[in-house]
Amino acid sequence: MSFPANRMRILRRSETLRRMVREVNVTVDDLIYPLFVVPGLDVKLQAPSMPGVFHFSIDALCTEAEEVAKLGIPAILLFGLPAHKDEVGSEAYAHDGIIQRAVRAVKRAVPELIVLTDVCLCEYTSGGHCGVLQGGEVANDESLELIARTALSHAEAGADIVAPSDMMDGRVLAIRETLDENGFENTPIMSYAAKFASAFYGPFRAAADCALQFGDRASYQMDPPNRREAVKEMALDVEEGADIIMVKPALSYLDIISDARMSFDVPVAAYNVSGEYCMVKAAAEKGYVDERRIVNEILTSIKRAGADMIITYSAKDFTYWQAGV
Ligand code: PBG
Repeated sequence: MSFPANRMRILRRSETLRRMVREVNVTVDDLIYPLFVVPGLDVKLQAPSMPGVFHFSIDALCTEAEEVAKLGIPAILLFGLPAHKDEVGSEAYAHDGIIQRAVRAVKRAVPELIVLTDVCLCEYTSGGHCGVLQGGEVANDESLELIARTALSHAEAGADIVAPSDMMDGRVLAIRETLDENGFENTPIMSYAAKFASAFYGPFRAAADCALQFGDRASYQMDPPNRREAVKEMALDVEEGADIIMVKPALSYLDIISDARMSFDVPVAAYNVSGEYCMVKAAAEKGYVDERRIVNEILTSIKRAGADMIITYSAKDFTYWQAGV
């Protein structure tokens, strides 16, 4: 049936009609809000290079977590900036490390809020790489034990979900085994399954103080042109026991999100990363784009591509806007 029997504009004639036939609606339930925690007391400092994103000390983080929960956002993803870094990233898996203390405090203050932790060494190692170095290279197998130890220490502190972002081979299996051996068989793993070596992480590296001292992450994060390889990466993580798989970044990788949705039955998450967020903020500040409409369209595209959950720095803004604030 074609024109004039079929008129596509027929269901677009009013906002109410459009609402009725809308295929995708982003809601607050879809969102995960990333937060950065730093040492100190009563600290809430604007993060360098990321407007509207802050560094919180643990006490201030708890206040923020309460606000996030009140807004109805179901989960936060925590990143830590330790007081000290060293070659083996000791504070990543220390019992009283910044993340471990933060998780205990937030879970005490807001038990119903789901706390995810980013499991990685890059904020904690002096070189800024996601694994440990051997002979100038990021050593895969030697990093696994430390990454699994980090995940276990987060689970012991009370993390609801651990999210490894290092892209070492075999880390999901190593984490699953370590968690199970220690009585944490009920702690889910959200793996950064298809994580690309992307320029979109630029603002985060400054915010999380994990700029590389040398080299780049291209020997472990994925090469952006590779779509088939992404499906293989995700399949391996599912096989190793990932409960949720993540695609990162989101916007330039909507095809990968769609592949994830079609290829696997586990929930799919997408990370709307720092560069994506900051480009919108900067353009909105200049008056080039309407921030609310752009953010809504971006989040909608990510969900339409197949994401069940979206990690986004816009989570609070979006929720306030939806509530008409
Ligand atoms: C590191 C990590 C990164 C991000 C999340 N975890 C940076 C990187 O891999 O270089 C990026 C998040 C963002 O850009 O918003 N483990």
